[in-house]
Amino acid sequence: MSRFSTYLKGQVRRLVLKRVGSNGIDLSQLDKVPDSLAWPLRRDGADPVPRLAELREQAPVAKLTSFLGLDVWLVTGERESRQVLADTTSYSTDIRPFMGQRGSTTDGDIGGLGFTDPPEHTRLRKLLTPEFTMRRLERLRPRIADIVERQLDEVERQAAANGGEVDLVPAFAFPIPFLVICELLGLPDEDRDTFRQLGSARFDVSYGGQGVFGAVSDSRRFLMEATRKQRSNPGEGLIGQIIREHGDEINDFDLGGLADGVFTGGLETSASMLALGTAVLLDHPEDFRRVGSDPTVVDRTVEELLRYLTVVQIAFPRFPKQEVEVGGQRIKAGDVVICQLAGANRDGRVGQMMDAFDTSRPVSAHLAFGHGFHRCVGAELARMELRTAFPAVARRFPGLTVAAEGLDYRQMSIVYGLESLPVRLEPALAPTP
Ligand code: HEM
Repeated sequence: MSRFSTYLKGQVRRLVLKRVGSNGIDLSQLDKVPDSLAWPLRRDGADPVPRLAELREQAPVAKLTSFLGLDVWLVTGERESRQVLADTTSYSTDIRPFMGQRGSTTDGDIGGLGFTDPPEHTRLRKLLTPEFTMRRLERLRPRIADIVERQLDEVERQAAANGGEVDLVPAFAFPIPFLVICELLGLPDEDRDTFRQLGSARFDVSYGGQGVFGAVSDSRRFLMEATRKQRSNPGEGLIGQIIREHGDEINDFDLGGLADGVFTGGLETSASMLALGTAVLLDHPEDFRRVGSDPTVVDRTVEELLRYLTVVQIAFPRFPKQEVEVGGQRIKAGDVVICQLAGANRDGRVGQMMDAFDTSRPVSAHLAFGHGFHRCVGAELARMELRTAFPAVARRFPGLTVAAEGLDYRQMSIVYGLESLPVRLEPALAPTP
């Protein structure tokens, strides 16, 4: 890291800490996120709450609230979000100054690419991207198809044992990305159960900072240990490959952090897309039928689902290092800027009827994977999973229907999703008169 960037980072950290008082902010100790800050994470079914669209109409960049002495800005416009996310110099995403002792670089609980600034971010991301090229990902394609088919067998088994009904979240949506990531990372079978348990609590802000950041620590520690074990005997997956090709450029702590970012970045997100995406398709039976029978519609159906659902509701918070101007607002150094991607993907300045799910709309770039240099590294892997799983479920169970009156949506989570998705494999027979 250059001396200048170290200096700059120090300055920003000092600035932030000065503004929040001598003890600093420790988000990990926060047991409840106030509603003035959290309301943009609420949804109304698949849709962002109407208040978000109203705000976007008035001001695509607006001051959301003041929180612990910091001004927090919400960006809901598409153009404005792109401007913030593409800016490589004005913002930091380093959250450690807000994490008290738990986030110090020495014990290093918080890590991964999302919370790391250039040039460290550039260095680490370069190690990871070769593992996500289409050429490397191709090796996973048959494994993904196999995992999907096996989970569909499991769905069938569970339904048969349960009068034709099954919950698709634990039987289908969660295990598919979980097993894909285990394959990607090269994790041995015996570690997989522990990982499964670490995945869920992480993004649920209803429990405040404790749940969110506590789970970060556990999964990172676990992956550091997995990395340490592979040092002497590198496996076939991502961890082993990086050790083989760049082992002397990265220590266990950083590689564990990268693996953790991949694990948590790719698990809840894809699981939510699979569950919510299936629910949306079941609500649009013609799209469900076509995704199973016409391969030419698969890619655009997946892109529309990604846009419409935008399950990662907000990008990593951006902390301006200097005064910036976005959407006509002046934002001070030390403020917090949150891009609300779900809102930006419904911005009416981008296309017609953006609140509708419409697989016939022209495919255009959306913000579901973010934008700029923190844009999702796993986007192509996620697409591969979704493009395999949706057609497979529609082909195997063309008579699938939701077996509940209303759906159990997750409350106030950074990654939006469904707690459960009860379905019937065949439509229920109408009672005979
Ligand atoms: C449908 C599934 C997914 C969605 C919607 C999604 C969305 C996102 C978003 C919005 C960001 C943040 C962009 C920003 O703040 O600028 C991100 C970053 C990231 N995602 Fe994903 N993601 C998905 C799947 C995956 C998968 C499968 C992996 C890996 C296996 C992954 C790994 C990452 C990583 C490592 C980052 C941080 C990149 C960086 O900071 O440079 N994601 N993702």
